[in-house]
Amino acid sequence: MRTIIEPFRIKMTEALPITTRSEREVLLARAFNNVFLLDADHVTIDLLTDSGTGAMSDRQWAALMLGDESYAGSRSWRRFEQTVREITGFKHIFPTHQGRAAERILAATRLKKGNVVPNNGHFDTTRANIEYVGAIATDLPSTEARDLHSEKRFKGNMDLDGLARAIGVEGAANIPFCMITVTNNTGGGQPVSMENIRRVKELLKIYNIPLMIDACRFAENAFFIKECEQGFADRSLLEIAREMFSLADGATMSAKKDGLANIGGFLACNNDSWADDFRNLLILTEGFPTYGGLAGRDLEAISVGLMEALEIDYQRYRHATVEYLASALIARGIPIVRPAGGHAIFIDAAAFCPHLRASDYPGIGLVNALYLEGGVRAVELGSVMFGKPAPEGGEEIATPHELVRLAFPRRVYTQSHFDYLIEVLDVVWRERASIEAYRITEQAPFLRHFTAHYERADV
Ligand code: F0G
Repeated sequence: MRTIIEPFRIKMTEALPITTRSEREVLLARAFNNVFLLDADHVTIDLLTDSGTGAMSDRQWAALMLGDESYAGSRSWRRFEQTVREITGFKHIFPTHQGRAAERILAATRLKKGNVVPNNGHFDTTRANIEYVGAIATDLPSTEARDLHSEKRFKGNMDLDGLARAIGVEGAANIPFCMITVTNNTGGGQPVSMENIRRVKELLKIYNIPLMIDACRFAENAFFIKECEQGFADRSLLEIAREMFSLADGATMSAKKDGLANIGGFLACNNDSWADDFRNLLILTEGFPTYGGLAGRDLEAISVGLMEALEIDYQRYRHATVEYLASALIARGIPIVRPAGGHAIFIDAAAFCPHLRASDYPGIGLVNALYLEGGVRAVELGSVMFGKPAPEGGEEIATPHELVRLAFPRRVYTQSHFDYLIEVLDVVWRERASIEAYRITEQAPFLRHFTAHYERADV
């Protein structure tokens, strides 16, 4: 059959809030025009993130009942450790309450002021944790990634020449570790090839620089490798994942993505002395090393979820969903990052709203238009999220791309939800000239997008 179906049926339902346009006008104004500040009860299709928003399977719900809530040495921890080791092969594994806790422990224990961390694309929390300790987060996306609309696969790859140059300029001693994010979320959810990971590792090995994988979407990345990289078609996703991790010295993970869980994460490494530092800080801020801020039942749900994410039918359906939306938008001429990534569609808001400048925050205008039109919640990844607030009186530093992400919760929305979304996008696209400019009226010193207040501006 050509139709790829959801490889599950629905056992429990959750009502979706339906609102009117005039209600949404009031609700958005009350949220200071920032969709992060809306009540989820007022959102019909919530594509803010694919993080922690997935639906657990019956097997995961059943596993919750097996949670061993012992403070130390619980069965659930053993199961978790065994699963993570089976997939990653790492010697030391530490559960954390989510991905950024792993990043914080990594940054706090390994980095000093002035150190540099290269990455194909830091996620915002990774960057913030690195910068918080005074180190510098450097993005080295491949040259192909700069062209948002080229159809090249593996646009998430790291720029190897850029990495070699960065090592030359900074000196290996000033680079305590390098990271590679699979898939590259900020770069459009683009995958990284096995060959690229291998070549990054070979280069780093010469200089004794450890490689850490930001593994949030490792299973989606493994699927792209299987489908698109030569030599992997006959390998299972588990085998591919193992090979990816075998090239690294450790990993940070948010189990809220490819752990198919609503909370959780881990930090892993092979180095014994790193592990000692991780353990000590983990105990201080997350909890004892056999639970790390999670309940035993969470550890159980993650153990099942990590393996479900590696099931081929699940990944086929997941990617078919993304492709379904991508082809509908392309057919309408809506500018999206090509080819579609693994967990989301990224709309090129600058091309969508050519009448707006970066300082008008076209991404915010588009996000707000989608909410007003259909109660759809998306997120801006542009000059608000990644730009720097202006130094006193100066021009704000814009980012090269103004993107809006429609992220897909795992196993949550059906094809008719996507048809509704396509209809909303169709209207907003046809009326794009009316998308408004916004100004920030209040902002935090970092990660400002979460809490900023905006007002409409006359262009
Ligand atoms: N790394 C990447 C690549 C991520 O996408 C995220 C989270 C994290 C690290 C941090 O993990 O949320 O568990 O602390 N991304 C979410 C998103 C929030 O919407 O893309 P966390």
